[in-house]
Amino acid sequence: MKYFFLSLIALSVLVVGVFGFRGDKFSSPPLWVFPDMDEQDKVKAQTASPFFEDGIGARKPVLGTVPRGAEPGVMPIEFGTGRSGYYFDGAVEGTYGNGLPEELGIKTEADMTGLLGRGEDVYNVHCAICHGKSGNGMGVVATYLAKSDPIIAVPTLLDKTRDKFPDGYIYNVITNGKGNMGGYGHNVLVRDRWAIVSYLRALQAAAK
Ligand code: HEC
Repeated sequence: MKYFFLSLIALSVLVVGVFGFRGDKFSSPPLWVFPDMDEQDKVKAQTASPFFEDGIGARKPVLGTVPRGAEPGVMPIEFGTGRSGYYFDGAVEGTYGNGLPEELGIKTEADMTGLLGRGEDVYNVHCAICHGKSGNGMGVVATYLAKSDPIIAVPTLLDKTRDKFPDGYIYNVITNGKGNMGGYGHNVLVRDRWAIVSYLRALQAAAK
């Protein structure tokens, strides 16, 4: 028992010695045994930040962000919902148009390479599962579909008819779907749809 009290006293002295009394003022920062989340790397509102190239701490929402609690059907402009004009619906004066819309801002070869690269990425994410990486209609899903339901066939995109589809038509198929294919307008941005169209043209040219 004697040793218990002795060690209790020793421990109290030690604790008070190290941590001091509550409310004491120190000239150096206190010991931080559990820092919890007192210190965080973060940008305070309306301040500059060297982390970003332009030095602005307050960032804009990521492209294509849908506001939380938005009314159903309200989509950001990047998805083109409810907008018209060749860029948004692929149509010129009631028929499907051809060529890349001006809004893409393709002026140099580097711009085009960028668009095609993007097109390749997005095509491989959204289309290749069915139409195949090369566009031959033999993606993973198509292979299984052929076994379970031979009536719904995934077509090749490289044949002579589909070669001749106007760009605006392909854009429209991506946006709204066609027959057994669902539309991708709700999750592929307008710009990315055009990138896919360009990439598909490259695939068709490569298949010749
Ligand atoms: C889930 C499988 C699937 C995915 C994913 C898919 N497609 Fe399709 N696609 C189909 C099927 C099935 C058809 C045939 C539709 C029909 O005629 O009933 C088709 C048809 C097409 C056609 C031809 C339309 C016509 O008039 O002959 C084009 C062009 C096309 N798809 C492009 C795309 C592009 C570009 C993507 C990526 C954004 C894509 N598809 C994603 C299944 C798919």
